[in-house]
This record gives sequence, C-alpha cells and structure tokens, in this order.
Amino acid sequence: MVIHGGVGSLEGDPQRRITVHETLTLFLMESYPILCDYDAWTAAVHCTRLLEDDPNFNAGTGSKLQKDGQVRMSASLMDGRKNSFSAVINIENVRNPIEIAEKLSHEKHKVIAGDEANEYARKKGVKYFDPITPQRRREYEEKSTGQSGTVGVVALDKAGNIVAATSTGGMGYELPGRVSDSATVAGNYATKKAGLSCTGIGEHIVDMGVAVRVVSQVENGMPLNETVKKILKEAAQFRYKLGLVALDYLGNIEIGKTIDELFYAKHDSKSVTTFYSCQAFD
Ligand code: GLY
Repeated sequence: MVIHGGVGSLEGDPQRRITVHETLTLFLMESYPILCDYDAWTAAVHCTRLLEDDPNFNAGTGSKLQKDGQVRMSASLMDGRKNSFSAVINIENVRNPIEIAEKLSHEKHKVIAGDEANEYARKKGVKYFDPITPQRRREYEEKSTGQSGTVGVVALDKAGNIVAATSTGGMGYELPGRVSDSATVAGNYATKKAGLSCTGIGEHIVDMGVAVRVVSQVENGMPLNETVKKILKEAAQFRYKLGLVALDYLGNIEIGKTIDELFYAKHDSKSVTTFYSCQAFD
C-alpha cells in the first residue's frame, strides 16, 4: 500500500516535514490492517477519508479556496479488477468527497460535477459540512496557494485487486469551476496490472495523461519502474511539475516526481518507508 499527501516546497519549515511524516505513517499503519482483513477498496477509501479529515492536506477539511472564495473538491476511485472508475468533480460542502465517489461507483452514471453533485450528495443523505479552515481562509486572503497538496492511496490486496483513490481541493485561487486532474483517469487509474495516483499541477498531469499512460504501458509488458522513469523524463522535458505513487500486481511500489518534494509513505508488508525516513515495524 502506498499513500501520498501531495507535493510542496518545504524550505524554511522543517517541522512541517516531521508532522507530515508522522501523520502519513500513522494513517498508513491504521489502514494497512484494513487492507489485510478486508480488501484494497475498503482500505483505500478508509485511508483517503483519514487524509481528507486532516486539515494539513488539501482535500476535504483544509481544501483550498478558488478565486471566488468557494471550496470545490474533487475525488475519484478506480477498482482495477472491475475496471470501474467513479468520480465527483467540484463538489461543495461535504466532509469526504471520496465517499461521494464511492456512492457513485454503484450508479449507472459514475462521474458527476458541480451543482448536480451537490444535489446528489444531499439526496443520498450526506450532511452539510464547511471544509474551510482558518489557515486556508488566511492563504486565500493573501492570494497564496499555500504549501499543502492533494492526497492519494494505491493498494493491492491479497486477492490481487488494485484500487487507486485520489482527492483534492485543487490548486488554490484558481478560476472558479476549474477541473483538476484528480477526478480524471490522467490523475487516478488502476487495472489488474497496476494502479497510480498523481499530485502536482493538474493541467500538466492531464496534458500527459500520466496515470492511464503508465498503467497502459505496464499492461503492455513494460516493468513499472521503467514506465515511471520514462514518463518522468518526458514530464521533465516539458518542465511539468508532478509527483506520483504507483504499484503493480507483483507488489512493486514506485514513487516518482519532477518537483522538490513528494510527501509519501509506503508499506511493503514488512516495513513502512516515508519521504522522510525508513522505519521497520512488525
Ligand atoms: N493535482 C491537483 C490539481 O491540480 O488540482
């Protein structure tokens, strides 16, 4: 199982690295037993919910505000075995966008956006929730995009199923209604062979179709590490800013980035490693 809390520059804030390291480790350690006892779907949704509830990340509580002062969140889920993608785009006033993506996975029409997504959530009995934190309000007033990022989870269960989940509050101070990569197959994708969640500048990720391209190349027989290396080389040529976490059906985990820092944590069934340090747990 591999998770991320987005990309960011950490210059001048060493304490933030430690906080993010501890938080990602905690969430991964809490979610991993769910992966073992249940399945990749349950663990991915659970872990994404934890990340969304933590105001340090830009998803759910603590999502960034768009230019008009409104938070619009997006999330997606992909079940590799069922080859099924569901997503909610620019939803407002819910606590956990990933829950809406999960509900949509049972519908005939599995991707919805905007006002209709808000209506769908209310019809499903999801309670009104204000995700704006004082910190994000301050960043908005300073017209700053802040340092926090999108969250994502990719998990492989013992039955061999791979699930990818991604959730975001967007870029911060962007054009109202802008659509991020996170609720598209460019930012979040999985098949029986591999799964991937992206973070970084959505326009760059969509331009390259990152997630679906990497996974397709693994489907065609290219090893995951080579595929990730290839896409990052291409992204660097365009000066695109992105990060990704990926895993394949053999349990190989790959982390990639073209930016300074990607906050990630991975559990390879023996030990947990984060962007900050490597520690072993029983
Ligand atoms: N990757 C998140 C966004 O661009 O909105």
